[in-house]
Amino acid sequence: MQTLSDLPALRAAVQALKSDGKPLVLVPTMGALHDGHMALVEEARRHGRHVVVSIFVNPKQFGPNEDLDAYPRREAKDAQMLGAAGVDILWMPTVAVMYPAGFATNVSVTGVSDGLDGAARPGHFNGVATVVLKLFNQVQPDVAIFGEKDYQQLAVIRRMNSDMDNDIEIVGMPTQRAEDGLALSSRNAYLSEAERKAALALPRALGEAKRQMEKGASIASATEKARILLENHGFGPIDYVTLCDAETLEEMTVLDRPARLLGAAKLGKTRLIDNIAVAPVR
Ligand code: PAF
Repeated sequence: MQTLSDLPALRAAVQALKSDGKPLVLVPTMGALHDGHMALVEEARRHGRHVVVSIFVNPKQFGPNEDLDAYPRREAKDAQMLGAAGVDILWMPTVAVMYPAGFATNVSVTGVSDGLDGAARPGHFNGVATVVLKLFNQVQPDVAIFGEKDYQQLAVIRRMNSDMDNDIEIVGMPTQRAEDGLALSSRNAYLSEAERKAALALPRALGEAKRQMEKGASIASATEKARILLENHGFGPIDYVTLCDAETLEEMTVLDRPARLLGAAKLGKTRLIDNIAVAPVR
């Protein structure tokens, strides 16, 4: 595996890899890799001959009071895991390479990024769309793979990719979960032992609300019960527990088409998110 952090070297390495005409797959990450990321890498191997993983903790997607400085950084261990998984290139640009002095462009996707985390974390999806478009331009992949755990992020990236006429296939991978059901996330590392146990209330609350809705319960009552369950387990504030159209992410009041139930709430100092598919009631 080549570990690169300057752009001319990346471009030369990508060109050399692509000279055999076989597809190149990009897995963008912010590092602190866990089994969820490694499942994306495995999926990448199935999609293409060449795999590039990027690690870049993107300052533009963190708000002023968020966890940019505390975000876990484990580059040496990450590199070891990626090398063992057969990754061809680890792309690790510095902030100065990604955003050189004078950088002035902002990629903003409206609509799909307005609600949910877009409302709770102003500017977050501009930062995500800007860095992902840059990563696409830098690495020039044929396929890019993202986890469904960040479901709204995936929808924003799909919209941006299509709007920008990129010839890149976007693949969404189902959320990887711990045995007890908690969605894998680099931020789980912040949880104390007691919080880690309480965190299970998030997938449970969403799962229970899904079951109720699919049996015909009103969306309002099912989401309210989920909120109460979260509060009873120490979550708060709750940013949202909302049922949305699975594609546009418009909020739904009637379960008449494929939907996604999304939740985000703080547990102590850690903000957790999760989501689950909800099937329309026939
Ligand atoms: O999901 C992430 O890890 C990040 O938001 C991404 C897509 C790598 C952009 O920084």
